[in-house]
Amino acid sequence: MADHDLMDKLVSLSKRRGFIFQSSEIYGGTGSVWDYGPLGIELKRNVKELWWSAMVHQRDDVEGLDAAILMHPRVWEASGHVEGFTDPLVECSNCHRRFRADLPEVEGGQCPSCGTRDAFGEARSFNLMFKTFMGPVEEDAATIYLRPETAQGSYVNFLNVQTAARQKVPFGIAQIGKAFRNEITPGNFIFRTREFEQMELQFFVEPGTDDEWFETWKEARMAWHRSLGIRPEKLRFHEHGPDELAHYAKKAVDIEYEYPFGWKEFEGVHNRTDFDLGRHQEYSGKRLEYIDPASNARYLPYVIETAVGVDRTVLVALLDAYREENVEGEERVVLSLAPKLAPLKAAVFPLVKKDGMPEVAEKLHNELRAASMPSFYDAAGSIGRRYRRQDEAGTPWCITVDGQTLEDQTVTIRDRDTLTQDRVALDRVRSWIRERLDG
Ligand code: GAP
Repeated sequence: MADHDLMDKLVSLSKRRGFIFQSSEIYGGTGSVWDYGPLGIELKRNVKELWWSAMVHQRDDVEGLDAAILMHPRVWEASGHVEGFTDPLVECSNCHRRFRADLPEVEGGQCPSCGTRDAFGEARSFNLMFKTFMGPVEEDAATIYLRPETAQGSYVNFLNVQTAARQKVPFGIAQIGKAFRNEITPGNFIFRTREFEQMELQFFVEPGTDDEWFETWKEARMAWHRSLGIRPEKLRFHEHGPDELAHYAKKAVDIEYEYPFGWKEFEGVHNRTDFDLGRHQEYSGKRLEYIDPASNARYLPYVIETAVGVDRTVLVALLDAYREENVEGEERVVLSLAPKLAPLKAAVFPLVKKDGMPEVAEKLHNELRAASMPSFYDAAGSIGRRYRRQDEAGTPWCITVDGQTLEDQTVTIRDRDTLTQDRVALDRVRSWIRERLDG
């Protein structure tokens, strides 16, 4: 399968099966904004829960936070976003459309839209933050921004969290939340969108220990991606050169994934030094220094940041899992998602709609749901068709209640990837699945 086909096929599967729909589709769609359907929201929730579990619940040195999207406008002056979060844009004097100045066609002097040559004016900076107004008056003084990253909410709450949770440096603040960027060149489905969700950790360390912590987090984040079942050969590190570094960073490494459109950023790990805390201290006039209880040393901690998109993780999980296979002479599309990511853990089928099979199957389906294992009951169509539907949804196990079930209280469990069938006692199905989810 050619790589560009894979993106098209994934977009179409996502819509057909209810993973992801274009926003406001009946009105022609909103540019680069997407909605998550019934299966998509389950996958997305699983991504977030696995991140939260690894980053917050399994650690003593990280605290959670949910800061508001709307913040004091001075935050974005202090952070450098008002001045520096810009892309250079040029306008075509013929069709009046605007493009990033660094697009290859634009650099070659040709308008990508109307084809006119040498019709571009001077490049102008375009700020990527969405603006809105707070309160009933739409005037400059009431302008606020939709946050372009969750990180700033963690910086301005650094002392609140540290004091309330009685943490000592080194410790971190983790957040999952929406971010907004008026991207000039969004695209590639949910790879780059204008509204997206981030999972960010700000880890505060003593200056001088920052290089070591940077390496620790870089490796920890790569290990997390691998734990989701992402193929290791599709992941690599890319260190930023001096011309790629963001305005706040001393050092930055991307974890990249090999998408159908090439190796591109998946997650960023940044050494932000004391830039952000220093600027907030300066702009707010409030001291944000940490006092070491053992040595009484007073300092602004350095920050090691790990930042990854929820949507981008969903995209990588789907791309990495998509397979087209020939099984017993029939084509099938299967999403080989790690079971812990799969939207549905099981599907339960009565072989036929009679002889008491539907009742047994429905009872099992309800027991699975009650045990927090999302399950799907399906009695429609041939067993083969029911399997295909679940393969496309990424459901790892299909359970069939058949004639033998009524005699010996066992069911068959069919594995999505190996297609093997296990005969398992009805009262052991839950523990059978639980062992595999945890393992
Ligand atoms: N706080 C640091 C920060 O925001 P970033 O590299 O601009 O750094 C971090 O963004 C991550 O957020 C990216 O690696 C990507 O996974 C995700 N991300 C950024 N912009 C995005 C967009 N427009 N659409 C979807 N995901 C995006």
